[in-house]
Order: sequence, then structure tokens, then C-alpha cells
Amino acid sequence: MNSNIVWHNASVTTGERNEQKGHAPCLLWYTGLSGSGKSTIANAVDRILFERGCHTYLLDGDNVRHGLNSDLGFDDNSRKENIRRITEVANLFADAGLIVGTAFISPFIADREQARNLAKETFIEVFVDTPLEICEQRDPKGLYTKARKGEIPNFTGISSPYEAPPSPQIHIETDKLSIEEAANQIVEYLVKHKVIPA
Ligand code: ADX
Repeated sequence: MNSNIVWHNASVTTGERNEQKGHAPCLLWYTGLSGSGKSTIANAVDRILFERGCHTYLLDGDNVRHGLNSDLGFDDNSRKENIRRITEVANLFADAGLIVGTAFISPFIADREQARNLAKETFIEVFVDTPLEICEQRDPKGLYTKARKGEIPNFTGISSPYEAPPSPQIHIETDKLSIEEAANQIVEYLVKHKVIPA
């Protein structure tokens, strides 16, 4: 970073934003394999929060890769850069007072920890824990079949690693819960931790 760049403090405070919106900001960081249900659960949570009058926004892996990150592939360095940019953008949304969700595989612990370090206490890691066999059976985009045939290199879970979170704030075992139950588990966490009112 250029040493002639100076940080400006904002005149509107976090407290003032919270009061205006009626809730605190947070960063719900969903992580899990492709096809694990991250987007589906994140959208269900977003819908519940929106209908409760919360100010929310969801950054979704496939969508962000159509625009902001359309120049990035799936080798380790590209994924790292993908998550670095998302972290910065998500943090700006949280700084604006929103409840922001990010639904990216985000396979590496170090990258997720970087997000946690930036977002600090607003960071909530949500592990969408769906076993590889189930993701592969579902194969909603037909990508696992292609990856097994060697047609997609560096495919997470097949030819590229996924580092599961050792201690996520929220652990969703999708084989035991419906989408609605999973979404409610997350919303209850937000109430319990006073991000949103009961
Ligand atoms: S991440 O690893 O960099 O966090 P991200 O969530 O943005 O990944 O994108 C994952 C989505 O891209 C998958 O759900 C899938 O639809 C698609 N995709 C295409 N190629 C790959 C690949 N090699 N590995 C994983 N997902 C891929």
C-alpha cells in the first residue's frame, strides 16, 4: 500500500447505524463443499431476516465469479484471492451496518481466518457440513461427474482439498436437518448473541 494514503474516520458511528437499523451488523460466513447447500441455506436465512425488517445482503460464490471475480480460476492462489476480495467487500457491507452472508466454498482455513481477523467479533463461521458422497449424489450442476472424468481440474473434494472448520460458531449437519430447520438454527444463534432482537 502507498504510504501517502491516510485512513479517514467516518462521522456516522457503528452505534448510530445499529440504532437506525434495529440490529447489529454481522458477517455470516458459510463454508462447505460445492453442492453442500450453502446458497440454499444462506438464501433461506436471508429471506427470514429480510422479512423481519433486517438490512441484509448475500454474496454468493457463483454470482460473484460472474462479475467482480470473473478473472479468477480455481487454483490455490486464485481461490485465495477470491476469498481476499470477498472478505474486503463483505467487511464493507458489515461496516455499513448490514447482516451480510457469504456463500463460498472457501476451502482453506488460513483464508477464513484472515476474514475472521478483519471482521473481528462480527464474524460468524457457519459450516454447512454435507458429506462428499451426498454432494456427489446430488451433483446439481453435473460438476462432480465431470470432475471424476478429469474434465475439471482442481475440483474441491476430488482433486483439490477442503479444510473443514475445526470449531465453527454454527455447525449445520444437513443430513439431519431440513432447510427450514437449518435456517432457524442460524436465526436463533443471531437472537441468542443479540445481533437481532428476539
Ligand atoms: S472458492 O473455492 O474459491 O471459494 P467459489 O465458492 O467461489 O469457490 O466457487 C465455487 C463454485 O464454482 C462451485 O459451486 C461450482 O459451481 C463452481 N466450480 C467450477 N469449477 C470448480 C472447481 N474446480 N472447484 C470447485 N468449484 C468449482
